[in-house]
Amino acid sequence: MFFESVYKSWKPKQFAKYEHLSKQLDLKIFDGKKVLDIASGPCWFEEFLAKQKIDVSNFLCVDKSEKHLKEKNVAVKILAADASSLSLPGKFDAIVALDCLHLFDFDFRKYLKKNSFVLASLFFNKQNIEERRNFLKQKLKWLKIKKEIVIQEEPTYEKRLSVSESEIFILAKLS
Ligand SMILES: C[S@@+](CC[C@H](N)C(=O)[O-])C[C@H]1O[C@@H](n2cnc3c(N)ncnc32)[C@H](O)[C@@H]1O
Repeated sequence: MFFESVYKSWKPKQFAKYEHLSKQLDLKIFDGKKVLDIASGPCWFEEFLAKQKIDVSNFLCVDKSEKHLKEKNVAVKILAADASSLSLPGKFDAIVALDCLHLFDFDFRKYLKKNSFVLASLFFNKQNIEERRNFLKQKLKWLKIKKEIVIQEEPTYEKRLSVSESEIFILAKLS
């Protein structure tokens, strides 16, 4: 289950994960590309990319919450829609699916161009890392896994972030 009000307080946590990710994956792979972000939330990933001088002007961010999309702080295209029943013209160079594949089904093949890629992620804890990894791989089973990045978030001094949360990212390509 997903709670909107709690989510907003996660921005520093999400940004910390993107920061770690950027040390292990060259995020320039997104530069100027036509990208679909499913369940983008308030477009924090795109905000992070833009701060790294990565051109996100061709990103289309979809979220079922119009409220989240309106909170965006970066120039991207937005669409309030249910990602599981999208009907879009054309295909994309890449699809981003961060912290969302546990929430709905999505057929990546429908929107992927030849030689395109997917960056997907899910949070995990010590108890469920294998389960989460397998779940993510199952969701991406039509694609070739290129890179797996596991980020173990350190607890911060802020009380509300005191429980460490970790994230597994998978980069997969359409072969
Ligand atoms: C945990 S947040 C992740 C947001 C963003 N991807 C990130 O990593 O910061 C989950 C998002 O999924 C959206 N969502 C949930 N079900 C959805 C659906 N069926 N279609 C589109 N968006 C959905 C929620 O509104 C929320 O913004």
